[in-house]
Parts: sequence; structure tokens; C-alpha cells
Amino acid sequence: MSKNLFSTVLTCLQEADLNRKVKQLDQLLQDWTEDRFDITPTEEIIRIPDPGRPSKPELVSPKKLPRRGLGTTEGHAALMHSIAHIEFNAVNLALDAIYRFQEMPRQYYGDWLGVAGEESYHFQMVREHLFHLGYEYGDFPAHDGLWMTTYQTDHNPLVRMALVPRTLEARGLDVTPAMIQKLRAIGDKRGVEILKILLRDEIGHVEVGTRWFRYLCEQRGVNPFKTFQEIIEQYFHGDLRGPFNIEARREAGFSEQEIQWLESL
Ligand SMILES: [Fe+2]
Ligand SMILES: [Fe+2]
Repeated sequence: MSKNLFSTVLTCLQEADLNRKVKQLDQLLQDWTEDRFDITPTEEIIRIPDPGRPSKPELVSPKKLPRRGLGTTEGHAALMHSIAHIEFNAVNLALDAIYRFQEMPRQYYGDWLGVAGEESYHFQMVREHLFHLGYEYGDFPAHDGLWMTTYQTDHNPLVRMALVPRTLEARGLDVTPAMIQKLRAIGDKRGVEILKILLRDEIGHVEVGTRWFRYLCEQRGVNPFKTFQEIIEQYFHGDLRGPFNIEARREAGFSEQEIQWLESL
């Protein structure tokens, strides 16, 4: 019996309960592996201003998030919480990349399901570590920047690939090494281990974004370098802050031309 991929993904995307969402995703991955899905587009594709997420954390503007050092357990936990929040959101980002763009080749869906599975694994790992520090996901406020960019790019897979994996997730590549240093400095071995896994996997996610970005550029007959520049100018007004993790970005498929341009900003 075949199921429709897009309607199944939509259900999981809208699921607000953490444990149910993780379970649904596991089932989705298994069904995909067993080739149970048809990828016939659905009759309509709805916009999603609010994806499924638990009622906590409370979402606040980034400016309202208190800055804490890692000197206290609370500060340490707040850092882990912010990572858990990113990973949880990343599950929704990957699911939305599938649901929303229903005219892509089958491989695209396999790639993003793979990403969703890894994000869920990241989330569970970070959540567990947070738990060992005495906190649960939802205990600190968080911001909604990731989903906002996702929502703003729901009209065009090319813009989505440029801004979500290639800009927001790529930012994670840049900032993770410094976080690893900080965790090492306070002796959080498990935290270091987790962040290393995240960094390794995130290179793959950005690479998926790069690959499909280039695919869409080729399909539309546009220059990938110029198009990436234009999109960054339009949405971020060229305001991308370094320092950039050049080595990781190279591995994730950024061209030398793109890297040089980023460094010039
Ligand atoms: Fe992740
Ligand atoms: Fe990711």
C-alpha cells in the first residue's frame, strides 16, 4: 500500500508533541527506505506561519534573550538549550523543504528526509545532555528567526536553498568551533563530543542545500554565483558576518569565488 509523501510529511511537520513528532519521523524514514511513498503532488500546498512545536519554549525577539556566560550551570544549560532549539527547528525546516516543493526529483526528498532524521537525532542528543544539566527543552526562552526565514522563502525552492541551508545552517559551521572551545574550557566532554557530531553532519546538510541550489540554477539557466549574491543582497542586504569557517564551507560545496566574495563583505 502506498502513502502520499507530502501529506504524511505535513502531518509530521504540524505535530506539536515532541515524542510523537520523533516517532512519526522514524516511521517516515522507515517507509521511505521501504519505498512505500508516492510523490504525487497534493491538491493544495498550504502556507505554514506556525509549524508544530510544543507550547514551550516561549518565543521572544532575539534582543530579549539574556546573554549568559558559561561560568554557571544555568549559562551552560542556556547554551545547550539554544542548540536544542535550533535542532528542533531544523527538523521542521527539513520537513518543510519536502512538503513545500513538490516538483523536485525523488532524490531531493530522500536527501531532505535524511537531513530531518539527523536533525531529530541531534535534537534528542542535545536534549538529553541538557537534561543531565538539570533542564528540559522549553525551560529557557528562544527566538523564532529560523522559521521566519523559512516562511519568507516558501515561494521558491532556489531562494530557500540559498537562505536556509546555505546561509543559516552554514552559519552554524562558522560558530560551532568557538562553541567547542568554550565547552572544552569548562570541561564539558560530552558537550564537545556532541558538537563535533553536529558540525560533521551540518557540513552534509549545507552540501545538500548547495547541490540542489546548483541544480535549480542550472534548470533555470541562471548563474549560481550571481544568483546567490543577488539573493543575499535582497534578503540580508549583504549583511553576513564572518569569520567564516572556510574549510567547512569548502567541504559543503561553496566555490572559491563564493568564499572570496563572502570574505569581502
Ligand atoms: Fe543539526
Ligand atoms: Fe542541519
